[in-house]
Amino acid sequence: MKTYYRGKRAAFYNQTWKTFSARTLTETCASIDLTQLQQTLSVQKHAPRILDTACGTGLLLQRLGQLIPDAALYGVDKSQDMLAQAHLLLQNDPRIHLTRAELTSEKLAGLPYEAAFFDVITCTNTFHYLDNPVAVIRGLAALLSPQGQLIIEDYARRTFPFPWRAFEWFIKRIDPQHMQAYTLTEAQALCQAAGLQITATKNFSIDRLWKGWALRGITNA
Ligand SMILES: C[S@@+](CC[C@H](N)C(=O)[O-])C[C@H]1O[C@@H](n2cnc3c(N)ncnc32)[C@H](O)[C@@H]1O
Repeated sequence: MKTYYRGKRAAFYNQTWKTFSARTLTETCASIDLTQLQQTLSVQKHAPRILDTACGTGLLLQRLGQLIPDAALYGVDKSQDMLAQAHLLLQNDPRIHLTRAELTSEKLAGLPYEAAFFDVITCTNTFHYLDNPVAVIRGLAALLSPQGQLIIEDYARRTFPFPWRAFEWFIKRIDPQHMQAYTLTEAQALCQAAGLQITATKNFSIDRLWKGWALRGITNA
């Protein structure tokens, strides 16, 4: 199936979703435990390695580069056109490595990296696309270094009286790759089923229509 994120949709993504991205990526950055990261690095003795999965146009990588200036930053996305936008945004930054790759249910989430390589992994506004979220989380957890952090953020399925079923039907008409949106409680259960220990959670409001959640997990290993 062709990705929704191609052509003009990719070229105008940042403009179309400006307020949404600003809000959700701010909440994502605030979910990273920087104190824990420093502790992890004092043991590991290397520059922080951060992976943004489904990085889209690179907006979060740009923020992460400002938040953690000495980090090596990796981004993967399955859309060539979204990655092209990320290249435009981040082109002069030697810390950033972009690769076309797809999150799958396979070992290491199907990504081309060594196990236990990353200190922080992020996944924003993409969880609703995963057809087997437990397998993907398990794969991402295997990419985390000991005490590494996985931060997942997405828009939330809204509950009654919001007419979510009709709304989600409409989303699927526009973007057939949309699988389903979750509440924070449901997302937590999926992470726990994948063996992740949840260390922080929050619900937040994006705007009058969209609500979001974010969580941080560490591996139990
Ligand atoms: C709503 S955009 C979010 C982009 C970025 N994470 C952000 O928050 O600005 C969703 C992104 O997920 C990517 N995507 C969807 N499913 C994917 C998968 N299985 N593997 C990799 N990328 C995926 C799309 O190509 C798109 O760039």
